[in-house]
Amino acid sequence: MCGITGYIGYRDAYPIIINGLKRLEYRGYDSAGVMLFDGEKINLSKTKGKVSNLEEKVSKEITTKGNIGIGHTRWATHGIPNDLNSHPHVSQSGNLVIIHNGIIENYNAIKQELISRGYTFKSETDTEVLINLIEEIKNKEGVKLGKAVQIALNQVVGAYAIAVFDRSKPDEIVVARLGSPLAIGVGKNFDEFFIASDASPFIEYTKDAIYLEDGELAIIKKGRKVNIRKIQDDSLVDANIQELQLNIEEIEKGGYEHFMLKEIYEQPRAITDTFRGRLLAKEGIIKISGLENNMKKFLNAERIIIVACGTSWHAGLVAEYTFEEFARIPVEVEYASEFRYRNPVITEKDIVIAISQSGETADTLAAIKLARSKGAFVFGVCNVVGSSIARENDSGTYTHAGPEIGVASTKAFTTQITLLTLIALRLARAKGTMTSADYRLHLQEMELIPKKVEQVLKIDEKVKKIAKKYLLSTNCLYLGRGYNFPVALEGALKLKEISYIHAEGYPAAEMKHGPIALIDDRMPVIVIATSKGHYEKVVSNIQEIKSRSGKIIAIVTEGDTVVRDIADHVIEIPETEEALTPLLTTIPLQLLAYHIAVMRGCNVDQPRNLAKSVTVE
Ligand code: AGP
Repeated sequence: MCGITGYIGYRDAYPIIINGLKRLEYRGYDSAGVMLFDGEKINLSKTKGKVSNLEEKVSKEITTKGNIGIGHTRWATHGIPNDLNSHPHVSQSGNLVIIHNGIIENYNAIKQELISRGYTFKSETDTEVLINLIEEIKNKEGVKLGKAVQIALNQVVGAYAIAVFDRSKPDEIVVARLGSPLAIGVGKNFDEFFIASDASPFIEYTKDAIYLEDGELAIIKKGRKVNIRKIQDDSLVDANIQELQLNIEEIEKGGYEHFMLKEIYEQPRAITDTFRGRLLAKEGIIKISGLENNMKKFLNAERIIIVACGTSWHAGLVAEYTFEEFARIPVEVEYASEFRYRNPVITEKDIVIAISQSGETADTLAAIKLARSKGAFVFGVCNVVGSSIARENDSGTYTHAGPEIGVASTKAFTTQITLLTLIALRLARAKGTMTSADYRLHLQEMELIPKKVEQVLKIDEKVKKIAKKYLLSTNCLYLGRGYNFPVALEGALKLKEISYIHAEGYPAAEMKHGPIALIDDRMPVIVIATSKGHYEKVVSNIQEIKSRSGKIIAIVTEGDTVVRDIADHVIEIPETEEALTPLLTTIPLQLLAYHIAVMRGCNVDQPRNLAKSVTVE
């Protein structure tokens, strides 16, 4: 998830673009760049780091004259954050310039074809491949920029919001989108246009905006109506100019009150992006390049040790269940802070999987260094491309959750589980430890998860009502079995870290060994009772709590009839395979913690005493 901006009109483009990029930095902030056309030549500057770094570089490097330009703030997916991989990217001839937010899945195949036609590439990005493909088509077919972009986009697979400038046509910008957002701000009498990932960069200039729909391309030219076309068949589309109602802060939060709620609602997209180009359910294929390149090591591994902290540790715990059940590989899940000082027994036959959203957590980094020093192969699962942990690993793969701003991790957790589950399924396939039928069933079910998460998000209002009843609680217990024991831990952590209510998660069967002493009519107990997860046993745990007047909030599979007669509140989730239920059962727990915290007046996005990335031990 990157931020893109652009301007064409009568004003100086540079200040509009640079301020726009600052507003979009919540979308990505690991590198930035700008291109301006001063009437004669293209002036381009780009750099690793935040937009403030770019400003400094621009002031030393290029003139900022010009009424037309494009800008980009990056959240790396292909190619680590550095000057070369940052946007804008320029075509081989130097005449075409592009900025891009999204992922081109089949970029490698196109790149090889272009190389065979004499193209060379400066960066590792999918975007540079796209601009050279556009150039190749423009030259070969002798067509205008708009047509070349349309033809090229019909050859790529993936998600994109792009803006393309052609030096030979300096009075227009071509934009297009599929999967990633793109808004066009329309000036009075079409005397200027603003391009951006959302309206925050241009809301103070105009309230008139066109939100490009998926599969649409627009040719933007000063002084005339925006010419919108369908990418698929080049058919004309009427421009739907709407008046903006939101203010800037609301726009950055996408209209949500807090980044945490926005990120909870982004999970369907984040999960889809995480398996984009990696899960081909119909073909029964899972391909994760970091894993494929090291498959032999994984297949010969005697043990997998997962190291992580906080919410990432909970994702590791879910992975212990999937790796052992599907791939029959023994797994140990370690708190990185304990692992680094425990002088653990590690051999070169071990694989260590390090999980981290930020990629900067000090304890996890130290655990990795220790494991490597003892000869283990370290494989990272990170959300921040080019982060310290990503660079310290022997290999790895990225979740594509996009930037997570809220300190309480939400979409990073579900994308970590998504990716780790795909890895476990791929290893099971390679090892033959799973029947083909079961393997394909899990791939098909995984593909349905984003839609099912959308369905679960519809219970938000119901959860809000339940939250109202328990916002004055002083303690809370979370119970789960199997795959949902780690989810119980995660639910408790969410409530603790944003509402400051003491909460504990437990394996449901552990209750009898102590915690049941805490149960009385003031103790809310959240129980996860999915139909395929040791259901009968969980029901008897619920009865044990009920018989001690505990207040039960149960997460059940839709259509459940038994628990609803015992529990005080029932929240239904759609049916799916048990191993995938954590991707659904987590959502109501995130929402419950969120609503309780908001009602208690807590600073949900920046809770007291916490930091988004713990870079000290
Ligand atoms: C989770 O909501 C917290 N922000 C915290 O526990 C976090 O998961 C932990 O600090 C690990 O961070 P990482 O995933 O960035 O390494």
